[in-house]
Amino acid sequence: MRSYTLIAPAKINLYLEIIGDRPDGYHELAMILQSIELADQIELEANDIQLIRLKCDSKQVPVDRSNLAYRAADLMVEEFPDSFATYGGVDITLHKRIPVAAGLAGGSTDAAAVLVGMDLLWKLGLTKSELEELSAKLGSDVPFCIGGGTAIATRRGEVLSPISGLQDIYIVLAKYRSLEVSTPWAYKSYRSLYGGSYIQDKESLTTRGSAVHSGEIVKAISHQDVKEIAEKMHNDLEKVVLPEYPQVLKLKESFAKYDILGTMMSGSGPSVFALCESKEKAEEVKINLRNEIPDDDLELFVTKLINHGIQVVN
Ligand code: C5P
Repeated sequence: MRSYTLIAPAKINLYLEIIGDRPDGYHELAMILQSIELADQIELEANDIQLIRLKCDSKQVPVDRSNLAYRAADLMVEEFPDSFATYGGVDITLHKRIPVAAGLAGGSTDAAAVLVGMDLLWKLGLTKSELEELSAKLGSDVPFCIGGGTAIATRRGEVLSPISGLQDIYIVLAKYRSLEVSTPWAYKSYRSLYGGSYIQDKESLTTRGSAVHSGEIVKAISHQDVKEIAEKMHNDLEKVVLPEYPQVLKLKESFAKYDILGTMMSGSGPSVFALCESKEKAEEVKINLRNEIPDDDLELFVTKLINHGIQVVN
């Protein structure tokens, strides 16, 4: 049986601005997405039995159709019925390392890995942009996860412009294992509080979306100026998540007490990260935070920014 092993990195948001509504119920966004080294490992094996089967080593992760990795395989079956008939289904094994429901695109990156892996298993030869187009059907973050690195993401989050990559910059990442924030809730709450200030006309939305390309944080990224990047980080969803989840606010306040460059919630949370000057500093901050909050439920990781998305190991 042919098989592939893939590495599926998580992402953080260095920038997330909600600029308007969309007729499909989603939001118009201006974001900067960044891959990090913390990753899941995914094994795919052709099974010859016309079935998709999914296993995972984490009890927190469902292994039915509600799992985005399963839905990614299902999408491939739907799109390429001849290949399904020729090669059969696929056995997917997820080795979960990325915290779930964390704002780190854990499910999205697993789905991206399934698309990349099945393209190889079925010898389809899809291009990156074909894979990205297909993946947008699964979720707004999935297209970014395919190529990863550092990218400006606009519209629903699926229109991507890769920018000069940041790498070897260390972060500490914190997430309460049992704390989950619903992404639809976060966006809905934001709309009800701040929807009045959304940009309404199409032209202004396009202009605002384009403006992020010449924004201050993009300039800082192009100069690899980590201090400036840390200063210009922003996430609109903090305005609704922090007041509702005091534990998340406390994490930000605790990080800020240490020698870090900046701290921000990722996506709709509840994970919070702190940009650090060096790996040593990040390890020190992790120890300090662990001493301050000796709660087993709090997961802490030292990881770094990387310049790639899905990678095939074999
Ligand atoms: O696309 P995805 O399924 O990852 O999005 C999860 C939820 O986040 C959506 O159901 C929606 O409530 C919200 N969302 C949004 N606008 C976006 C992306 C996501 O409102 N551009």
